[in-house]
Amino acid sequence: VTNNLRFDGRVVIVTGAGAGLGRAYALLFGSRGASVVVNDLGGSRHGDGSSTKVADTVVEEIRRAGGKAVANYDNVLDGDKIVKTAIDAFGRVDIVINNAGILRDKSFVKMSDKDWDLIHDVHLKGSMRTTKAAWPYFREQKFGRVILTSSNSGLYGNFGQANYSAAKMGLVGLANTLAIEGVKNNIHTNVIVPTAGSRLTEDIVPPDFFEHLKPEFIAPVVAWLCHDDCMENGSIIESAIGWAGKCHIVRSDGFMLRKNVNDLVSPEAVRDNWSSVTNMQNAKRYGSIQEVTGEIMTTLEALKSRESSSQKEMILHTKY
Ligand code: NAI
Repeated sequence: VTNNLRFDGRVVIVTGAGAGLGRAYALLFGSRGASVVVNDLGGSRHGDGSSTKVADTVVEEIRRAGGKAVANYDNVLDGDKIVKTAIDAFGRVDIVINNAGILRDKSFVKMSDKDWDLIHDVHLKGSMRTTKAAWPYFREQKFGRVILTSSNSGLYGNFGQANYSAAKMGLVGLANTLAIEGVKNNIHTNVIVPTAGSRLTEDIVPPDFFEHLKPEFIAPVVAWLCHDDCMENGSIIESAIGWAGKCHIVRSDGFMLRKNVNDLVSPEAVRDNWSSVTNMQNAKRYGSIQEVTGEIMTTLEALKSRESSSQKEMILHTKY
């Protein structure tokens, strides 16, 4: 087959590539011609300790299969060092897959600042730092692909994961803006929302489900998002069990809570119209902040014209 998706000449950084999803990404990219920086700190799933072993093992696996890879053991907070490894070893960087992650699950009442900060550092700040270090190279070469890793725990919430949910949703916000800032230089940023069997989920997911949650089912989706030919940008893509889909934030039609432009809004008007405010029947997706603001202005114009037509009615009324 000649039209296989290849990544020859491309240099990809995969953070947290020593295990789970990151390892599957690294192996796939390695088998498709990319040069891979296998980053992994090698700590526990709670973020303690470190070891060079997991990254080295994946590098060995890629090389044994005939691919090109180097290890990097830095914390994603030192993203500039990870990018330096790519530049030193391969002379460029094209793709950054921010995947490294840990958990510090606690109910909100028991959550310490440390639990909060550690999770935000690894997931949100670490992704920012690594991506930011690669960004100038992307701009210069007019090519870049960024993956940020969110979670259904962020999109929908999950008991005991206030820290993790907040950081994971923060990544969606980061992607939204990077997609806008990068697009003129052919830098595309997308979010992957995986569900996979790994050490993060092994004690949560039932065994017969776990075995279908192979990270290898998700890696091809991430690979496509990072290819030259993929024009997807600023999207949230969920994937598991060999399935993939796209998520949107949608908004209801909403309801005008005052009758004319000089009126105030009373709390009672909010109460009495709440079912209209929250009616999702004609919920719609908005493509940009301009589109949303534009619609607010249109709604205001409609309110103003409603008033001027009722004023006209009053004038007509008094005339007769
Ligand atoms: P995993 O624990 O198997 O792999 C994560 C890797 O990241 C580990 O090898 C770990 O050593 C490394 N790592 C942790 N902190 C690091 C740091 N500061 N710097 C560099 N490397 C670091 O976990 P899994 O399941 O493969 O998770 C990968 C990503 O996917 C994470 O961001 C996770 O939050 C996310 N995710 C996973 C889901 C799942 O179902 N497995 C669900 C939703 C999101």
